[in-house]
Amino acid sequence: METNRLSPTLAQALNDQMTNEAHNAQIYLAYASWAADKGYDGISNFLFRHANEERNHMMKFLEYILKRGGKVVVTAIPAPGPDPVSVNDCFEKVFKSEVENTAKIYDIVNMSMAEKDWATWNFMQWFVKEQTEEETLAMDLLSKIKVAGGENAKDTALYNLDRDMATKPDDATLAQDATVDNP
Ligand code: FEO
Repeated sequence: METNRLSPTLAQALNDQMTNEAHNAQIYLAYASWAADKGYDGISNFLFRHANEERNHMMKFLEYILKRGGKVVVTAIPAPGPDPVSVNDCFEKVFKSEVENTAKIYDIVNMSMAEKDWATWNFMQWFVKEQTEEETLAMDLLSKIKVAGGENAKDTALYNLDRDMATKPDDATLAQDATVDNP
């Protein structure tokens, strides 16, 4: 008896996104290693922690495909691309990568809606929210490096930024959770 509840198109898209999330983890691992090598231990720590989050995202897709009776196809993970050339470049790359990931998530939402696969649509809403958080977090990184001087940031500013990053929370607060007392 056929128990697969995913269309071939959505199964492919979900598998592709599972690999994309593994690719995202590789990107954060590469940037974290770059930062560690340059002596930015706080930034490195933050990026290593985030690599784990991306692996968790990968696992959510894997589990969802299995639970819907689909076939998981584990493939090679694309290389993360060139190292950043500066902290400013690193944070810009992180933001760009998250925006690209959001577009991929939205594509699957659109596909699930077109197929009226409401289970997948519902599953994907977690990622819609997560991507809003991830983009907010990445925008925050860009604000910090901008205040520090962007590409022209001096060593002292980078030192302070790096120190702050070691204790930076892993999640951003969303607008929908804001109140007058706690904006
Ligand atoms: Fe899993 Fe940062 O997107």
